[in-house]
Amino acid sequence: MSYRAGRHFLQIPGPTNVPDRVLRAMARPTIDHRGPEFQALGREVMDGIRIIFRTERPVIIYPASGSGAWEAALVNTLSPGDRVLMVETGHFATLWQQIALKLGLVVELMPGDWRHGVDPGAVEARLIEDRAQDIRAVCVVHNETSTGVASQIPLVRRAIDRARHPALFMVDTISSLGSIDYRHDEWSVDVTVGASQKGLMLPPGLGFNAISDTALAAHAQAALPRAYWDWSAVLAANEQGFFPYTPATNLLYGLREALALLRAEGLPNVFARHARHAEATRRAARAWGLAILCANPDEYSASITAVMTPPGHDADRLRAVVLDRFDLSLGVGLAKLAGAVFRIGHLGDLNDLSLLGTLAGVEMGLALAGIPHAPRGVDAAMRYLEGERAAVLNEIGGRG
Ligand SMILES: Cc1ncc(COP(=O)(O)O)c(C=O)c1O
Repeated sequence: MSYRAGRHFLQIPGPTNVPDRVLRAMARPTIDHRGPEFQALGREVMDGIRIIFRTERPVIIYPASGSGAWEAALVNTLSPGDRVLMVETGHFATLWQQIALKLGLVVELMPGDWRHGVDPGAVEARLIEDRAQDIRAVCVVHNETSTGVASQIPLVRRAIDRARHPALFMVDTISSLGSIDYRHDEWSVDVTVGASQKGLMLPPGLGFNAISDTALAAHAQAALPRAYWDWSAVLAANEQGFFPYTPATNLLYGLREALALLRAEGLPNVFARHARHAEATRRAARAWGLAILCANPDEYSASITAVMTPPGHDADRLRAVVLDRFDLSLGVGLAKLAGAVFRIGHLGDLNDLSLLGTLAGVEMGLALAGIPHAPRGVDAAMRYLEGERAAVLNEIGGRG
């Protein structure tokens, strides 16, 4: 079949669906990136993106995927042989660790079971033990996209403070930015790493570093080689609304539009919508009789849910069936989770009926793939979505 009618259901945990308004905003002639029209665009997006990171400080926008922004965070603040503490929350934490190792950093990876987030108590204990204060940075992933576990970043910050340790605090928000509450300044994060293709509802291709004054001071001393990623060069050009290289102009048109959409909905509403869709998804999974990978309800991710298939039942078979029959893409189980989980991305440009369409596709797929389940998940999600808006808003308010 060369044409499939209807829209493709892209329900992987990023890249996410790009709204028509954003697509249209990008379908414009590329302009002179050293001219006045670009300058106005540059200033607007550099200002606007700070609201999403909740920071008054600069946010660097790279033409890069998230991995580039990971590397940028490290090379701009650290020196060869520096010791960094990372936490094995899942596949993406492990990939960040590998970048750090390749850069010549000494990485201590706190082991994890891929079902829990960062343990603030363990971080505190390790930092207290580090009397010589050799650890230069603590690097964690806020929302582990491979597992659907969201770590509690304010508690990790408190752990570092309680240990009275000067390590930089770096956080990957690639699958939480614009979908789960996050506050770079208030939580005293030194470098926040982000990317365009998830909560921001943009195509892949932009990476972000939000930076604190402490991170800037570290930057002045840091000796890892850096060229393309060098914050100093970018910050100097950004002062005038420009970049030291050819920027991803059309993605920046898209960013301007995506920021307008997020502003129009209002960030608290965006977060409440994600929390509500996540709860509906979990209710569906429980009604199917399938386990949720995240073991701690306080760490449930609002942007993705990883659902376990029963032993002996391959999650990839389900994924293949729903793609073939219903034009629905679900997230694959990564690394050691291959075949054991499927991941439902419920982030970005999504409403109740897009979620229910997704859950209906999963429910039919479970039957077609012969995976034992009770066919009651969609119904459970519908019952929840009918009536729980006020309750979720209260819950979000209570936590914030
Ligand atoms: C939490 C997290 N960190 C980092 C990355 C890597 O980003 P990229 O694939 O854009 O390089 C991803 C990608 O999905 C991610 O989910």
